[in-house]
Amino acid sequence: MPLTEADIPTIIAGMTLAEKAGQMVQVDVSTATPAEVGEFGLGSVIKTVPDGKLGTTDAWRNLFDSYQREALATRTGIPMLAGIDAVHGHAYFDGPAVILPHNIGIGATRNPALARELARITACELAATGIRWTFAPTIAVARNIRWGRTYEAFGEDVELQVMFASPLVQGLQGTDLAAPDAVGATAKHFIAEGATEDGIDRGDALITEEELRAMHLPGFIDAIDLGVPAVMASFSSVNGERVHGSRALLTDLLKTELGFDGVVLTDWEGIAMGGLTMKEGLEAGIDMFMLVESWREGLPEIIRLVEEGEVPMARIDDAVTRILRMKLRLGLFERPFSSGVCADALGSEAHRAVARQAVRESLVLLKNEDNILPLSKDQSVIVVGTHADNVAYQSGGWTKKWQGAHEDLFGNPARPVEGATSIIDGIRKLIGADRVIDAGRDGIRDDADVAIIVVGEQPYAEGIGDRQAEELVLTPEQRALIRDYHDQGTQVITVLISGRPLLVNEELERSAAFVAAWLPGSEGDGIAEVLFGDHDFTGQLSFSWPREAAQIPINVGDTEYDPLFPYGFGLRYAP
Ligand code: BGC
Repeated sequence: MPLTEADIPTIIAGMTLAEKAGQMVQVDVSTATPAEVGEFGLGSVIKTVPDGKLGTTDAWRNLFDSYQREALATRTGIPMLAGIDAVHGHAYFDGPAVILPHNIGIGATRNPALARELARITACELAATGIRWTFAPTIAVARNIRWGRTYEAFGEDVELQVMFASPLVQGLQGTDLAAPDAVGATAKHFIAEGATEDGIDRGDALITEEELRAMHLPGFIDAIDLGVPAVMASFSSVNGERVHGSRALLTDLLKTELGFDGVVLTDWEGIAMGGLTMKEGLEAGIDMFMLVESWREGLPEIIRLVEEGEVPMARIDDAVTRILRMKLRLGLFERPFSSGVCADALGSEAHRAVARQAVRESLVLLKNEDNILPLSKDQSVIVVGTHADNVAYQSGGWTKKWQGAHEDLFGNPARPVEGATSIIDGIRKLIGADRVIDAGRDGIRDDADVAIIVVGEQPYAEGIGDRQAEELVLTPEQRALIRDYHDQGTQVITVLISGRPLLVNEELERSAAFVAAWLPGSEGDGIAEVLFGDHDFTGQLSFSWPREAAQIPINVGDTEYDPLFPYGFGLRYAP
C-alpha cells in the first residue's frame, strides 16, 4: 500500500530526534558526500556550484541517485529530496539545457500561458537530470531598480506578480505533483524583499502592513492555493525584523492565516547570514535549513535545543511532518530514483522554439524613428558591441553558476552556454552570414548604412548587482561606440541587454531604434526574428523607465509619475 498523509504520524513516532533533525537539514553536493547523507539521515541535497563538469543527464542522474541510495539505506529509509535553482530554465545544468529569459522579460511578454509552457519545459529538463524540486519562481515585486535582483522579478507592480506566479507554479508542478516530470516549486522569497530601502539586497523593507499585503502578498497566496510545497524565507527584514526570525510572518501569517502546510525553507545559510540563532529560526517557523556549509554544527544544534528543552519536540514534529508531506506529494516514497523522463527533450529544438518565442515576446521597442525597423533582409548590416556575440552576457546571472557564466567555465570560453545562439549568430542565421559585417566588441566600420549595436550590463546576481542610481548607465566605451556610429552617419539600432532599465537618454537620442531586450537567455535568434520583421514587437515594459537618476525609485501609481517611458509602454510595427 502506498504511504499517505495519514501515515505521517506513525512514521514520526518511530523516528529518533537525530533522525528528525537530519530531515530538517539541507546540504550541497559539494559539502556532504552520499555516505554522510546516509550517516546523518539528511533530508535534502542541492547543487549550487559547478564542481567539475558532469555534462550529461546520465551523469547528473547518477550523482543524485547515489545520494538517494544512501538515504534509502538508512534505518528510516526516508528518501532524500534533491533541489536546485532553476530561475530561468535548468540554467545550472552544465550541458545543453535551454536558458529562458529572466523573469523581467517574462513580465514584459504579458503572456501567462506562455510562461506556463516555459515552466513545463524547465520541469521536464530538471526531471531529466534527476531533480524534482526547484527554488523558483521568484515572485518578488521589485520596487527599486537599484536592487541587484530586479531582473528576477516579473516587474514593479503586484499586477505582474499575480499574472505570473500561478502559471509558473502550475507549469513546474503540472497537474499531478507525483508525476515523474513534475517539479515542486518554491515561492520565494517571503516577503517584501523587493521593497527594501534604497533597493539594498537583504536590506530592510520599511512598509505598512497594508502595503505589504496589497503589493507583495497576493502572488504568494496564489502559489499556496495551487499547492506549492515550499516557501523560502527572504534574507531581508521587514520593519527591522529579519524575516528568518519572524514568527509573525512565517508562522502567524504564512502558516496560520494563509494555511500554508508545506515546508518553510531558509535561504542559503539564512540563519547565520541574518545574525540569528537556530532557536530563533525554529521558533519563527523554519522547517528546513539550507545549511550548506555549516550543517555539521547546525544539525547537532537542533538536537541540543530539543534535548535541553529550549525548543519543544512538537515544533520539530511539525517541521518533519511538512517535510514528509512534501516528499509524499512528490511521490518520492514510491519513486525515489530518477526516472529518465524527458532525457531526449532536454535542449531539444521543440524546447528552444518556445524559448525563442518568449525572447521575441519579451522585447520592448522603445523608439523606432521613421520606422527604420523592421530591417530588410536584403541589406548588409554591421553588428557590433560587447553583447553581440556573448551568450554568457545575454543570459545574465544564475547561468551555470551564481554570478553567471561569464567566460571562464570548463575551459571553453567561446561557448560557456552549450547549445546557445548569440545575437549575431541569430542575425547570421536569418539573413545569411554574408550580409553581416562583424565589427567585434568595439570596431568602427562604415561599409553599411545600419549598425546593430548590442550593449548592456554584465552578469550579476543578488547584492553584487546593487547599484547607486547614477551607476545605472552604460560603460564609457559602450556609450562612445553608439556616439561614434551615430556621428559618422550610420543609422544606429541599439539592443540593450540588461537586468533593469538603465539611464540611456543620450543613447536613445543617438539611436534610430532602441530595443530593451532584458536577459533573453540561450535563444538569441529570437531578437533577429523581430528586428527583421518575421514577427512584430508585442512586449510591454514591466518597469517604469526613469528619466533621470533622481527619479529612482519610480513606480506606476506614484503620485508624481513622470517617467521617460511608463510601465506598460512598448511600440509595435502594426498600427
Ligand atoms: C539565494 C536564493 C537561492 C539560494 C540557493 C541564495 O543566495 O538568495 O535565491 O535559492 O542562494 O542557491
